[in-house]
Amino acid sequence: MPTIDQLRAEAADCKRCDLWRNATQTVFGEGPPHADLVLVGEQPGDKEDKAGEPFVGPAGRVLDEALARAGIDRAGVYLTNVVKHFKWEPRGKVRIHKTPTARERGACRPWLDAELAALQPKVLVCLGATAATTLLGRDFKVSQRRGQLVDSPLAPHVLATVHPSSVLRGPEEERAINLDLLVDDLEVAASVL
Ligand code: URA
Repeated sequence: MPTIDQLRAEAADCKRCDLWRNATQTVFGEGPPHADLVLVGEQPGDKEDKAGEPFVGPAGRVLDEALARAGIDRAGVYLTNVVKHFKWEPRGKVRIHKTPTARERGACRPWLDAELAALQPKVLVCLGATAATTLLGRDFKVSQRRGQLVDSPLAPHVLATVHPSSVLRGPEEERAINLDLLVDDLEVAASVL
């Protein structure tokens, strides 16, 4: 079975779909190769695309804060995304995130499956609807089942929560409560680690 480093090297040249054309680079998962906890987001954003690392932009800062408050050390976590290239469209000078299609998610899926096979995590957390519906089924509703442990062959303990960027997108006056709720869900993950 390929190691995470071997997979990362292979994925660097990935052309399974067309997203590589407008992206700077493949942003593969990152973290210890034997991490017990794996977090899966949607796709790299603008900052991640440039840096080549997942969750280093604004959503990553929210995630860092939530992980710290849940007592989880980010350095011990493997962070990855369903889709490994940044999908965007121009709006003026800014590159705006576009949600990847089912075809693009499917094209990228072998990388995520290979990561999970190599990592064999004890706990898997889906961050947001793209990760949750990709990994837990098309009909999975994060709004109804967030923070609940669900049965899945993917890992002994699996749950979904919102994407950290939703905390930033929501109304300013709801940010603190939405962050608290994200922390609550990550505490559930911490409790089964
Ligand atoms: N959003 C994601 O889903 N993943 C990242 O790596 C950054 C932002």
